[in-house]
Amino acid sequence: MTTVVHTAADLRREAGTGRRRAVVMTMGALHDGHATLVREARRLVGADGIVIVTVFVNPTQFGAGEDFDAYPRTLDDDIVVAGHAGADLVFAPSATEVYGPTGAFRPDSVTVDPGPAGGILEGASRPGHFRGVLTVVAKLLSLTQPDTALFGEKDYQQLVLIRRMVSDLNLPVDVVGVPTVREPDGLARSSRNRYLSDDERASAALIPAALDAAAAAAVDGPSAAVDAGKAVLATDSRFELDYLVVTDPELGAAPESGDARILVAARLGATRMIDNRPARMGA
Ligand code: PAJ
Repeated sequence: MTTVVHTAADLRREAGTGRRRAVVMTMGALHDGHATLVREARRLVGADGIVIVTVFVNPTQFGAGEDFDAYPRTLDDDIVVAGHAGADLVFAPSATEVYGPTGAFRPDSVTVDPGPAGGILEGASRPGHFRGVLTVVAKLLSLTQPDTALFGEKDYQQLVLIRRMVSDLNLPVDVVGVPTVREPDGLARSSRNRYLSDDERASAALIPAALDAAAAAAVDGPSAAVDAGKAVLATDSRFELDYLVVTDPELGAAPESGDARILVAARLGATRMIDNRPARMGA
């Protein structure tokens, strides 16, 4: 049975002490991508360990006009999915439990500065997003005190920044990245996919196809990769491209050869979608 707790005090009591502990942080609306993280968490801590899933739609990482109010909230289903995947505990706090009486940042709050990489790509389109993400991840690490925290490569910039925060702030936790879980047609599983109409859903497979085309063209270097990826998305005029870029694995300048990451963000109707994949530049 999965135990559900809503307060820090209940979490501390139910988690106890002495068992190896892994946490999977989520905003709920759990799908097989999240479940894969939970299964991996269970594998890492073993049958004697404890797996905690947090479910919290974090207000501080949504900008004005983004989908905070519309974001799907499906806690009863989430408890079932988390339990089937191997979670012992679901921690679903309120905003005031996490942030105090205001339920969000105060003007005088101390928060985590994501540094320059928090202002590019997703951070350029969503000002303040990574300050909100890193601050809530730091809070949830303090609340859950895990040995290991698992995050998906689906949100690659988030994963890079969380690794950087843990290293730069000397936080005592191992961060494990998990490869992106995809639908049969390649679309990355996402809680936001449910916003897509049937037509949009059919077109959405062009996003991973663009990444694959870019990776295939990468033998000729990063600009050939970008051109090939953009050409795929240009075949459907409903896509509004935000960015399609090649970086090094740490989100620095694109290498002419060696390991790289290809990242894309595009709007399809009202839904903003992101995806990424590894690639090797050059022959
Ligand atoms: P959320 O979007 O719910 O994602 C929770 C975790 O699941 C993240 O680590 C994300 O990268 C991972 N994930 C989502 N879709 C995935 C997929 N298709 N394959 C593999 N992993 C996937 O990311 C957040 O929530 C929030 O920003 C959070 C870290 C919880 C802070 O609020």
